[in-house]
Amino acid sequence: MNVQFDFTGRHVMVFGGTTGINLGIAQCYARAGARVTVASRKQANVDAAVATLGAAALGVVADVRDEQTVAVALAQAVERHGPIDVLVSGAAGNFLAPADQMSSNAFKVVLDIDLLGSFHVARHAVQHLHPGGSSLIFITAPQSVVPMAYQAHVCAAKAGVDQLTRVLALEWGARGVRVNAISPGPIAGTEGMRRLAPQGEQVMPW
Ligand code: HXC
Ligand code: NAP
Repeated sequence: MNVQFDFTGRHVMVFGGTTGINLGIAQCYARAGARVTVASRKQANVDAAVATLGAAALGVVADVRDEQTVAVALAQAVERHGPIDVLVSGAAGNFLAPADQMSSNAFKVVLDIDLLGSFHVARHAVQHLHPGGSSLIFITAPQSVVPMAYQAHVCAAKAGVDQLTRVLALEWGARGVRVNAISPGPIAGTEGMRRLAPQGEQVMPW
């Protein structure tokens, strides 16, 4: 991919940035010269991601559901690379399940990763964002506005991420934090699409 922007010397941190779309985002920033930090739950994913992100890259194990591990990951990132210029929050979980067969815990686990996790990341990151101006980017999904069958948990969680984005833009814009959400369409070859269209269906199940 031909990268057309320059992030030389900037610090970009991506939560959930070790596979799929979020790793692609981290790799684009790395190619544009950024010093990149990625964080996710699994050491193997962290190690594999860092190996693709250049010598300066830092990988940290953290579960966004656990705000202490988020806080520690941020502290380690800032110690290595300094204040964060761009913070991407993209950790997510998904599976297909009819609402009447979805346990309370199955619903909750996606809320905890996607929505509560986004809040944990933002809440603990804001003190580490570059005082001269920074960008906070949430990764949402079409399910935030389009109701999709077997996606009650994801639809609720990502709708919450959208509203969290709007509220934080109001609260933090005046102090130089630009807050946005990106909603990718269906991206072939990703874990998300393997879960939503396991047979490679052309027509989605909703
Ligand atoms: C029904 C399920 C289930 C399934 C898990 N559960 N999978 N219920 N159908 N297929 C239930 C479990 O039975 C349990 O409920 C509860 O969910 C928690 O499951 P755990 O396995 O204990 O959770 P955990 O180990 O924390 O794993 C979280 C996870 C997992 C979300 C379930 O799949 C995961 O780690 N996913 C991360 C990767 C991922 O999903 N990537 C895709 C993102 S794409 P009980 O009641 O038994 O305790 C995306 C949107 C894509 O977000 C949009 C495309 C257009
Ligand atoms: P993916 O490859 O499964 O990426 C999810 C990432 O989040 C992984 O790095 C995973 O690593 C990490 N993660 C999961 N649970 C975590 C937790 N509790 N704490 C910290 N990290 C966690 O999925 P993807 O399909 O590329 O999707 C990436 C993002 O794009 C998600 O926000 C998704 O909702 C959104 N999206 C995807 C599509 C699509 O077509 N795929 C479409 C629209 C939106 P570990 O397992 O190591 O934790």
